[in-house]
Amino acid sequence: MSRRVRRGAGGAYGRFLLAVVICGALLLAAGGIALVLRGRAPEPGESVAVSSADPGDAQAVALGRQVYDQACAVCHGLTLAGQSGWQEGPPGGPAPAPPLDGSGRSWQRPDQMLFDITKFGGQPYAPQGYTSAMPAFEGTLSDSEIWAALAYIKSTWPPEARAAQP
Ligand code: HEC
Repeated sequence: MSRRVRRGAGGAYGRFLLAVVICGALLLAAGGIALVLRGRAPEPGESVAVSSADPGDAQAVALGRQVYDQACAVCHGLTLAGQSGWQEGPPGGPAPAPPLDGSGRSWQRPDQMLFDITKFGGQPYAPQGYTSAMPAFEGTLSDSEIWAALAYIKSTWPPEARAAQP
């Protein structure tokens, strides 16, 4: 009698233990999934997905202004006016940073080229023997952030420059 009762109690305890183990496993799994999701969560600046340099996209322009001020202004200037003497660098480079507002030559380049110069740097586009001081932002900025910076840059161009861009 007492044996059967004990065995019964043991069975209930066993089920209790099993339940605890299953709950623990579920909690661990949930924690793991949460960690993975956290790892995939976008960075603060990446919460806006931008895939073109559209100066009419207010959200992209706002993000781009932040990106520009942090990553580009040190060379191209807070007002995008570039560095003085940008047209008269030494023959083998590096030239000072050109303006990125409508006063420079950037509006003569299509969006994809502006993107590629920003992502991969000026060197791949430089003539042989020329050293470019334009750094590559691949690995530092996301594609979204680069497109946003370009949207902001283009938002400063006068309408004629935007219309004339190839
Ligand atoms: C360390 C200084 C420096 C920083 C920082 C910098 N640039 Fe530049 N950038 C240059 C220089 C110098 C050139 C000219 C390259 C050359 O002569 O080969 C240039 C050229 C460019 C061009 C081509 C413009 C043209 O008229 O030919 C674009 C577009 C550009 N930069 C965008 C950016 C953006 C966007 C950022 C920020 C994400 C940035 N740059 C940050 C120095 C810099």
